[in-house]
Amino acid sequence: MNSPKSSIKKKNSKVQKSTKLTTTNNPIVMGFWSRVRDASKREKRPFFTIAPMSDVTDVAFRRMFVKYGKPDVMWTEFVSADGLCSMGREILSLDLEYSKTERPIVAQLFSSNPDKMREAARIVESLGFDGIDINMGCPDKSIERQGAGSAMIKNPVRAREVIRAAKEGAPNIPVSVKTRIGYSKNEIANWIPHILEEGVAALTIHCRTRKEMSLVPARWEHVAEVVAIRDRMNIPTIVIGNGDITSLRQGKELAKQYGADGVMVGRGIFGNPWFFDAKKKKITTEEKIKALVEHTTLFDKTLGGKKNFAIMKKHYKAYVNGFDGARELRTRLMLTDSATEVAEVAREYLKSGRVIEKEKTSHV
Ligand SMILES: Cc1cc2nc3c(=O)[nH]c(=O)nc-3n(C[C@H](O)[C@H](O)[C@H](O)COP(=O)(O)O)c2cc1C
Repeated sequence: MNSPKSSIKKKNSKVQKSTKLTTTNNPIVMGFWSRVRDASKREKRPFFTIAPMSDVTDVAFRRMFVKYGKPDVMWTEFVSADGLCSMGREILSLDLEYSKTERPIVAQLFSSNPDKMREAARIVESLGFDGIDINMGCPDKSIERQGAGSAMIKNPVRAREVIRAAKEGAPNIPVSVKTRIGYSKNEIANWIPHILEEGVAALTIHCRTRKEMSLVPARWEHVAEVVAIRDRMNIPTIVIGNGDITSLRQGKELAKQYGADGVMVGRGIFGNPWFFDAKKKKITTEEKIKALVEHTTLFDKTLGGKKNFAIMKKHYKAYVNGFDGARELRTRLMLTDSATEVAEVAREYLKSGRVIEKEKTSHV
């Protein structure tokens, strides 16, 4: 029979396999992140992730990337933890729809309420997500009024409680944070250690302040400051740089220059499901239009009737660009209100290079 001492020893060695201790003794569940980091080190390249983007990175959008060029990590759009714990759960669950083909996939939550975060994290883990990310960078006033998003930068004590709560609610999957370099100015030296001391598996740094929104160029040199703090603390937290990446090559160069483990891409992937396919050099007009139709059909199948069709319109602006008749086609697509109509407009354009007029409907 095992002595109590030896069984404790055995237990501890088991824990240490999946966790590492930080300087503050906060255990970190690295989960799938270890695999992602190890693969990128082996291949001598940073890993790439899609950025969480509200009303953009839904299940239809992500499936396009599964098919045409999969990033190393997928992200959902943000979801209110408070809402997930309320009657609004059903509607918000739409933002947490995913398929196994998208793995590894991280669900992003926001809240300033530790109890809600704990409960929401429990729900996210039970849904089978590979990780949880906490939004601490969103500048949206309605989010900030709740004390969440960027407002967290002003309240590090609460931010730490929220991280702790997420880890308690979802003890078996990794918890990460996405934030900015500061609220009105660079606050990396004060703000970032708070997050790292809580023992997060990954930290995404959007290289702008809250005040700057997305109005000034991202300053990737700040990623190096975050990496230096992480290294000084001697912890395994993965650092992901974010802001203004428009190509794989640029992402690789900046990650190398500033020491990021990974690169998160947001607006640069709009209308370009081939973004992460390094071999895809040229995209024809026909490919773009066919992808637009496919994306719309996927949206219709997965979220049709549950989410507003208008969500698709911002994608049309991105797909329909830089070719003859693009403006005309874009204008016509803005008038559509169903996947069938979009397919019809696209078919006509591909056949004749012309756009069909929208019929005037008479209301009786
Ligand atoms: C339409 C849109 C929606 C966004 N929604 C979210 C979100 O839900 N969660 C989040 O953390 N950041 C969100 N962001 C910020 C992006 O994740 C990213 O940090 C920002 O766009 C900078 O990266 P980029 O220059 O590569 O786009 C959003 C950005 C855009 C443009």
